[in-house]
Formats: sequence, structure tokens, C-alpha cells
Amino acid sequence: MAFLSDTLSRVKPSPTIAVSNLAAELKAQGKDVIGLGAGEPDFDTPDHIKAAGIAAIQAGKTKYTAVDGIPELKQAICAKFKRDNGLDYTPDQVSVGTGGKQILYNALMATLNPGEEVVIPAPYWVSYPDMVLLAGGVPVAVEATLENEFKLTPDQLEAAITPKTKWFIFNSPSNPTGAGYSRAELKGLTDVLMRHPHVWVMTDDMYEHLAYDDFEFCTPAEVEPGLYERTLTCNGVSKAYAMTGWRIGYAAGPRELIGAMRKIQSQSTSNPSSISQWAAVEALNGPHDFIARNNATFKRRRDLVVSMLSEIDGITCPTPEGAFYVYPSIAGLIGKTSAGGVKIDNDEIFAKALLEEKGVAVVFGAAFGLSPCFRVSYATSDEALKEACTRIQDFCAALT
Ligand SMILES: Cc1ncc(COP(=O)(O)O)c(C=O)c1O
Repeated sequence: MAFLSDTLSRVKPSPTIAVSNLAAELKAQGKDVIGLGAGEPDFDTPDHIKAAGIAAIQAGKTKYTAVDGIPELKQAICAKFKRDNGLDYTPDQVSVGTGGKQILYNALMATLNPGEEVVIPAPYWVSYPDMVLLAGGVPVAVEATLENEFKLTPDQLEAAITPKTKWFIFNSPSNPTGAGYSRAELKGLTDVLMRHPHVWVMTDDMYEHLAYDDFEFCTPAEVEPGLYERTLTCNGVSKAYAMTGWRIGYAAGPRELIGAMRKIQSQSTSNPSSISQWAAVEALNGPHDFIARNNATFKRRRDLVVSMLSEIDGITCPTPEGAFYVYPSIAGLIGKTSAGGVKIDNDEIFAKALLEEKGVAVVFGAAFGLSPCFRVSYATSDEALKEACTRIQDFCAALT
């Protein structure tokens, strides 16, 4: 009898975490490495949110709570959905988990039977396919190409849906591309979904507040109220509130699904940290002015990175609507050889050579299901970004 489960053999460790670890390891060895792999803001959690966490500790709010969230946080989440998205939910339609990751995982675990399919636009956040596999389902990746600004077309969605499709996972603005769907683009997809009443929608709105220029965020149940009864609207405080370590994510949707997710959570982790929940209440109910300030910084960095990478022959770098990533294509560099003698056959080799020869850590596109590209996280200082982009320019200029 094998010790490790068959399920485990179907999944791979997170490649984005692997890149961050490798960069940290090289730094610890004294190497001059700039990490552009991290999926988290470099800003600190705002003081008023920290204070709410400290106050919760001092007030003794340090015990078990209701499995899927304290009533105060569920209320704050309902108010958020009404305020930002025009969506009506009651607290019994809300689930709070240990990060957005647990929420998505619970929903897939609660619903997927062997062989059921989940349509996932690629490039995708690395965890979607592996979570589907862990839950016994079949990920169906559909490539959203550079030519279509990394956005899925209605025809592509239509073609991917089969009688076995249980979920469509939608993520806008996207990790890894930053691409954000306009209302018209999303309506094209929701029209398709209206024709397939057996398909549920899992929308991952984690980057809702991180949008630039005049991009207007929208979410499927708001764009097409006819989908409300089969949509799980997922969100969290990790990114916009710079709270990745606090581990609070949440979702709202039909009661039966929320109850099933609660059952999974009750037999695995139980409640998310009580202290973090109180901090999240303050995040959602408190002042939001810091988000605009942070976004001004992110937009400046996005523009810096896009312009420096666009100067490189062989790289195409679209300007994304949101998140803190850009996803340049290196199609024009494939087949060339680096100054260190490495033949750039694919994006994984490109990223490895860039790290070894220039000390810049990026994540290769194959990890996100669309090559030949790489992901840059611009959630780091302007100085580090300038230096990293100069090194990428030098690396590419030396390719023959
Ligand atoms: C698209 C997307 N969804 C969900 C998550 C998970 O967020 P959390 O840190 O709250 O688990 C991430 C984090 O990287 C993400 O990029």
C-alpha cells in the first residue's frame, strides 16, 4: 500500500511560492536578487485595521467563533456587497474562511463529483486547476490569448461547456495578467451562461479594488441578475487592504451551497482567526481612502514596467486594467541564446536564465497555463522595479 494518496499525485506545489522561495534562498546566500514573484502588496496593513486587531486581543476576543464567521463580519460583508456591487445578501448567505483560497477550495470540495468539469480561462491563478483536481474534478483550461488582451470570448466559453460542466471560474482583474473585463465583455459571457442553466459561476473578485485609469469593476451576478441563484461571489481583504497574512476571505451565494461549505470548514479548520475577523470588520466598515493612495502608486509602477518592457525587441507587454501584475509575451525571443549560453526554448528556461544571469525572479507563463510569457508582480518599490527592468533589458539585448 502506498503511503501517499493518489489524490496528492494529481497536484503540484504552487509554482509562484516556489519562485519566491528560490529568490529568498539566493538572497540568503548573499546573491543580489530582485524578486518580482510575490503576489502581495508591499504596503503595510493600515493602522486603523491593525488597531482593531490589537483591540480584539485586549478585549479577549480570542476564543472559537462561529465556524464560518462572526455575525458582525457577515453584516459588514453584506453591507459591502450592497455598497460596492448592488448585490443583496443576508448573513446566512455569507461564508468567511481562512483566506480567499480556503473559500474557493471549500466550494469546490463541497460540489465536485468525479469527472465533473470546471471551465477555467487561461492564463489562470495557479491554484484553480490543482484545487479542482484535489476535489476530484476535471479542470478544462481555455486559452485567452494576447490578441484578445487575455480575455475569454463568448464563443470560446460556449465551446468549452459540456453536459459535465459544473462551474465556470471567472477572475477579473486577473492574476496573472491584470486583465479586467468591461461590463460589455462580461455581459457577452453571462449571456452564454444564461443559455446553460446547469453551469454555476464562481467569481473570484479578489482584485476588485485594484483597478486603474477609468476601468469600472463589475461582477457576474450584478451584470446578469438571472445568474444570482447559481453564482458564488468570492472576495477577500488580502490584496486591497494589504492583509495577506491575516488570512480572511469570504463569499456570498445560495444558502444550500454556503451551508455545504460550512460543513467542510467545520470538519477541517473551523473558524478563521477571531482576531483577524475583527480586523476585517474594521477593514470593510472603516475608511477606504488609503486604497486610492495605494492605487496611484500601483498605477505609476504599472506604467513604468509596461513602458520599460515595451522598449525590448521581442517582448510584447499589454497595459492591464488592474491587479498588480503584467504578463509580457516573449514570443519574439524564443530560439535565441543568452549571454550565458542558454538556449531560450520556452518561458521556463527564460525565467531560470534571467534569475541565474541577472538576479531577477519572475514566474514563467507555463505555470499559469499560457506560454510563452512571464508574470511580473509590480508590488515592489519603484527603485527595485527600475533596476529589475533595466536588467531584463540588458538580458534581452544580449540574446543572440
Ligand atoms: C486570483 C486570486 N484569488 C485568490 C487568492 C487567494 O487569496 P488569499 O490570500 O486571501 O487566500 C489570490 C492570492 O494570490 C489570487 O491571486
